[in-house]
Amino acid sequence: EHGPLVLGVETSCDETGVGIVRGRTLLTNAVASSVDEHARFGGVVPEVASRAHLEAMVPTLQRACEEARVRLTDVDAIAVTAGPGLASALVVGVAAAKALALALNRPLYGVNHLAGHVAVDVLEHGPLPEPLIALLVSGGHSNLLMVRDITQDVESLGSTLDDAAGEAFDKVARVLQLPYPGGPHIDRVATDGDPRAIAFPRGLTSGRDVERHRFDYSFSGLKTSVARWVQQREAAGEPVPVADVAASFQEAVADVLTRKAVAACREHGVEDLLIGGGVAANSRLRTLAEERCAAAGIRLRVPRPALCTDNGAMIAALGAEMVMRGRTASRLDLPADSSQSI
Ligand code: KG4
Ligand code: ZN
Repeated sequence: EHGPLVLGVETSCDETGVGIVRGRTLLTNAVASSVDEHARFGGVVPEVASRAHLEAMVPTLQRACEEARVRLTDVDAIAVTAGPGLASALVVGVAAAKALALALNRPLYGVNHLAGHVAVDVLEHGPLPEPLIALLVSGGHSNLLMVRDITQDVESLGSTLDDAAGEAFDKVARVLQLPYPGGPHIDRVATDGDPRAIAFPRGLTSGRDVERHRFDYSFSGLKTSVARWVQQREAAGEPVPVADVAASFQEAVADVLTRKAVAACREHGVEDLLIGGGVAANSRLRTLAEERCAAAGIRLRVPRPALCTDNGAMIAALGAEMVMRGRTASRLDLPADSSQSI
């Protein structure tokens, strides 16, 4: 086995993740989630998340070492999510990673969470074909990124002006009285629905703002439109066709996401598109992306769902790229930066 042995720590939201990689080989990906504790609030509560990280950190670390059959003293470098994310959640992981780096006398790499969602794909599909365009869609972010060098040269081409794609899934699920987090439930319910039943709006694809926001997204108008449609049905005493609403909403999201991603590849002459983040698990998004990329001659990479949702392996993978590309380690007074840009 070649390559540096890197341990990655992720605590930016509600998943406590510890992953271990050897170069571009995944050894283990231990994740503890507090999602059930947030379910009754319909969203992540920062205070609840940070307490859960504090309790789960050492057990998750121990589990990762056991699963990978690695002793902490064998680790060559530590990587940790420095931002963006919930401030009170980030600091738990950053503090743990600093303690490890200090005690083991190993370099510490504070890395960007969004770049981690891209880097994780090396564990499944091998070295990144840079430059590439990355579409990141999760509960917290919706970004189109131009990746020239994942360790130091990532440019944001666009992002959402309001809700993240996953947030829209979760809010629409609530309107349809499906459980939180709603993305997987909408995906499941939509299988029996007609995606053309209702023409929901495609944000920022027409009108006077298009030119200025060609690679930006907007999902709040769509969410409101779905809510209004459902309310009108209910007010009229008519049954709500849940499957059709779910399928039509999902179609609108998948349509704008893939349309703009393919347009970004075309405009920049880039032939590789990567889709990551929790929403990349969506079956319609995956199918439509495959169809449109094939038609446009673009190679598509989508990591398996367990690597798309927040985890420690993505941070370890990015840390290993930093080591292998000779990047400078972070200082041990590294801050957590909740609004860190890419
Ligand atoms: O990446 P992730 O695990 O955490 C964040 O960083 O936010 O993404 C979670 C989001 C949630 O909004 C969830 O509803 C959505 O990803 N999601 C899905 C699917 N699976 C998870 N959305 C649509 N379809 C899915 N199959
Ligand atoms: Zn994420």
